[in-house]
Amino acid sequence: MARFLVTSALPYANGPIHFGHVAGAYLPADVFVRWARMAGHAVLYVCGTDEYGVAITLKAEQAGVGYREYVDRWHAEIKALFDRFGIRFDVWSGTARCPYHTQLAQQFFATLLARGLVFEQVEEQWFSEAAQRFLPDRYLQGRCPECGFEKARGDECPQCGAWIDARKLIEPISLVDGSRPVLKATRHWHLDLPQILQQGLGDWYARKKAAGDWKPNVDGYVQAMLADLKSRPITRDLPWGVPLPEGVTDDLGKVLYVWFDAPIGYVSATAEWCARVHNDPERWRDWWQDPEVRLVHFIGKDNIAFHVVVFPAMLLGQADSWEGREFVLPTAVPANEFYNLQGRKFNTSAGWHLDNDDFFSKYEADVARFHLMLSAPETADSEFTWQEFQNTNNALLADKIGNLMSRVLKFAISRCGGVVPATTGAPVAHPSLADADLAFERVGKHFEHYELRKAAQALVAGAAALNVYFDERAPWKLAKSEAAEDRAALGECVERALAYLELLSRRIAPACPEVALRMRKMLGAAADPGQAGIWGEEAAGHPPARLKSGMTLGEPGILFGKIEDAQIAAEVAALEERAQASGVL
Ligand code: 2FM
Ligand code: ZN
Repeated sequence: MARFLVTSALPYANGPIHFGHVAGAYLPADVFVRWARMAGHAVLYVCGTDEYGVAITLKAEQAGVGYREYVDRWHAEIKALFDRFGIRFDVWSGTARCPYHTQLAQQFFATLLARGLVFEQVEEQWFSEAAQRFLPDRYLQGRCPECGFEKARGDECPQCGAWIDARKLIEPISLVDGSRPVLKATRHWHLDLPQILQQGLGDWYARKKAAGDWKPNVDGYVQAMLADLKSRPITRDLPWGVPLPEGVTDDLGKVLYVWFDAPIGYVSATAEWCARVHNDPERWRDWWQDPEVRLVHFIGKDNIAFHVVVFPAMLLGQADSWEGREFVLPTAVPANEFYNLQGRKFNTSAGWHLDNDDFFSKYEADVARFHLMLSAPETADSEFTWQEFQNTNNALLADKIGNLMSRVLKFAISRCGGVVPATTGAPVAHPSLADADLAFERVGKHFEHYELRKAAQALVAGAAALNVYFDERAPWKLAKSEAAEDRAALGECVERALAYLELLSRRIAPACPEVALRMRKMLGAAADPGQAGIWGEEAAGHPPARLKSGMTLGEPGILFGKIEDAQIAAEVAALEERAQASGVL
């Protein structure tokens, strides 16, 4: 049994998140965690909001709202969407609300500074004379030095994607007051990534590459980055953030750069959980400093640099400074590509998104989960289309799984007295059951390797094989005969179909926990599908008869309702109308 420490990227408390985020970094983690628990592993799943940084201060100021009030609002709102999707963290923290965050982030910084891995430099930054403040990153707008786009920001150009050194921005203006800023000297601290690369980061990365641990999209990005790795500034002049540790500077306006403190949020969220559960926040070390623990970061592709290079560098740079205990480095970073909506990027302010209230008033979370798995952006950008969503619901879930449940149960009720038929228990060889065995065995392997698409496909393939089995054995024909061997064959067929449906209810549980629960109720199976150890690696050909003979079956019901064509057409029309009304698209 392994110990998994699972994280999902801390979403910025700076606006709504949408299905694209869920498909990229949250649903995959939740499914993995549910599978791992069922398989008997110990798991801690941490998340929370990323609550500092220029993007947040800027938007809060524009909205005329205090920073804390602003992030509190989004902290709650974002969590509401996760709840709707059935995404369950062990702890939902936030970098500005976690009582352990400031101290931990400062300690990380102080250690790196003491070890010479962070260095200080005086440099020029844009300063607003009118507002008497420095203007980091997005507080500036000007012409892109790379492509000439007029509305480039101080950190990057939204048109060409170039990372911009703000000092090179052409004719910048301050977004705080519209003034033309001036360059003024200020001190900043930089993370010496090239030095950490030499001191072990490069070897660690290469070792894992040789072991095949990096997804191709991750490796492609990181190789290019490592070939030209530069130090990065990790402080900012801002009124909101983690202050530098005492004694570093008497300039009180300096805070840690959001991308420095945010991943430490995973550690401080762990401390918060330990305080709650063990009454001892210090036990975060049991997770972060135990070499047996497997750390898995679920993220979108825009976060690769920080999770595969910068945060590991920060962790490696702590070596020997915490009573000789080293931090674990990520075992895996299953970064996803982007998930779009009907041919365009999600854009909530332009109306190009799925309205959460409306969506969840009509459709079940488990259907959305299953569809997002089937269309997950694992190797390339992918998208949600209403037509494909309908197909997943109607042709796969309703026709393959729901219909099978319903006809097996109805048959068992009408022909077998509503109980699990008695059989000899001898192994049953049938090619379709062998297909189902193979498919259901693959489901677990795919979950283990973060392959949601393949796991969902294997679930459908398993259910399809069971349909073939039931059709070929045709127990309704056997029911016409009174011969003892036909009665026995009928009992065996129904018992196997029920046993495999019970197996399916467990295999589908990480993906569709509520559906699994309903299936188990209908089957009369007691246990909660989420419980530890229930996954079970069944011997091929013989899913154990967990439904004992003579056991009373539950009531059959409709597992998945169908979605009509007209409804899908209305959804597409509503999306387009919303986008047109916004005037942005
Ligand atoms: O891209 C984002 O939404 C960032 N807020 C992710 C941070 S992940 C972690 F490092 F905290
Ligand atoms: Zn540009």
